[in-house]
Amino acid sequence: MEKLQAIRGMNDILPEEALEWEYLESTFYRVVKSFGYREIRFPVVEQTQLFKRSIGAVTDIVEKEMYSFDDRNGDNVSLRPEGTAGCVRAADQHGLLYNQHQRLWYQGPMFRHERPQKGRYRQFHQFGVEAFGMSGPAIDVEVIQISAMLWKDLGLTQYLKLEINNIGSAQDRKKYAQALTAYLSGKVDELDDDARNRMHSNPMRILDSKNEAVRSALVDAPKLCDFVNQDSKTHFRKLKELLTALEVQFVENNRLVRGLDYYNNCVYEWTTDTLGAQGAVCGGGRYDGLVRQLGGRETEACGFAIGIERLVLMLRSLNKIPASALRPTDVYLVVVGGSLESEAFSVAEAIREKYPHLGVICHCAGGKFNSQMKRAYTSGARVAVVLERDGEAIGPLMEGKIRSLDDGAESIVTEIDNIPEKLGKFFGNSEG
Ligand code: HAM
Repeated sequence: MEKLQAIRGMNDILPEEALEWEYLESTFYRVVKSFGYREIRFPVVEQTQLFKRSIGAVTDIVEKEMYSFDDRNGDNVSLRPEGTAGCVRAADQHGLLYNQHQRLWYQGPMFRHERPQKGRYRQFHQFGVEAFGMSGPAIDVEVIQISAMLWKDLGLTQYLKLEINNIGSAQDRKKYAQALTAYLSGKVDELDDDARNRMHSNPMRILDSKNEAVRSALVDAPKLCDFVNQDSKTHFRKLKELLTALEVQFVENNRLVRGLDYYNNCVYEWTTDTLGAQGAVCGGGRYDGLVRQLGGRETEACGFAIGIERLVLMLRSLNKIPASALRPTDVYLVVVGGSLESEAFSVAEAIREKYPHLGVICHCAGGKFNSQMKRAYTSGARVAVVLERDGEAIGPLMEGKIRSLDDGAESIVTEIDNIPEKLGKFFGNSEG
């Protein structure tokens, strides 16, 4: 029978890669917790309306990329294409937003029906951070600082560039969109189909067109910064001052408009040129209108999301994952000869008790010494503990051997009860 395969653009994360993910995840958890952020979990499936009303009906995500379907009740639902909408829905539904400050983070799979390529998948994963109830630029800066701290802890600072832009208020953008449409009406012949389609519905999305002809038609186009209100300008100026004071480097990119409609004031992206075409690793900004737009009360908000696959690709290609994080296990118990299982289990248990952070595998499948040692090497363990008794021996086993698998050094022979203690040579004697 033909074997079934995973769906295109939806990846399996195999045990070796999962170690890379775990390293990244634990670093992320440490950083967000050090800023006092708390985790929120919300469903993968939501009403389609939630995404239409937040991300915007005339965006690539909503128009072309959502996995939407009628469920068995006939409700139109979608797999979440991003986390902000669900986070706002959940936080507001449970009364976490009104008149409060909230610092939240989340993580999980997102779904977009895009054309798969390196760094772009149909099921991908994000880490996200959302802060609610704070209006000034300080919170934008704090959120950016979280990402900067993460890059620092991962050793990636020099490979990432922060681009920022001020996109003003929704009203500013409405006026700007009208001016842009008027300008583009005189350039229709120079536009491609995509730009022509968007010219009236969402002309700002044309600004980040990759088509050279379209880009040159835009050279004299009106600039968004000329339409941005004074409050937004002040906010943005202070934000830049704070970033400078913190020595977070940035460049201003007035073409940066982002692909989601809910933003206002400051938007940003962290990009890298180590990944090829899919260079955006993290994107975010302020979205003060979204809570209201989804039926809640006026609540200031800002946040970002990181593409985990892209970050893993970066860490891997730059060799930034410490070898210790990639070690799948630490100790392998080789058990040769009859009736040693219970001895083996108690030795393994004693090692686990003394070193709770170590992985201890107990060979559970019999076989000869050599074939068990091969398993020990391929397990990735640093040390093999060998319990061996020849067929004729009787009575309790008195001794075991400890053998380094890293350098094949001489075995240490020791009494069974001393094995955990003697492992201190490899793993340090401290517990925990
Ligand atoms: P976004 O820019 O659409 O923003 O996505 C954030 C990140 O997710 C991107 O920078 C990228 O690293 C990753 N990503 C997006 N699509 C894919 C894909 N198809 N395959 C792999 N990685 C992908 C948002 O989602 C906003 N919710 C961010 C935000 C949070 N804004 C405010 N709060």
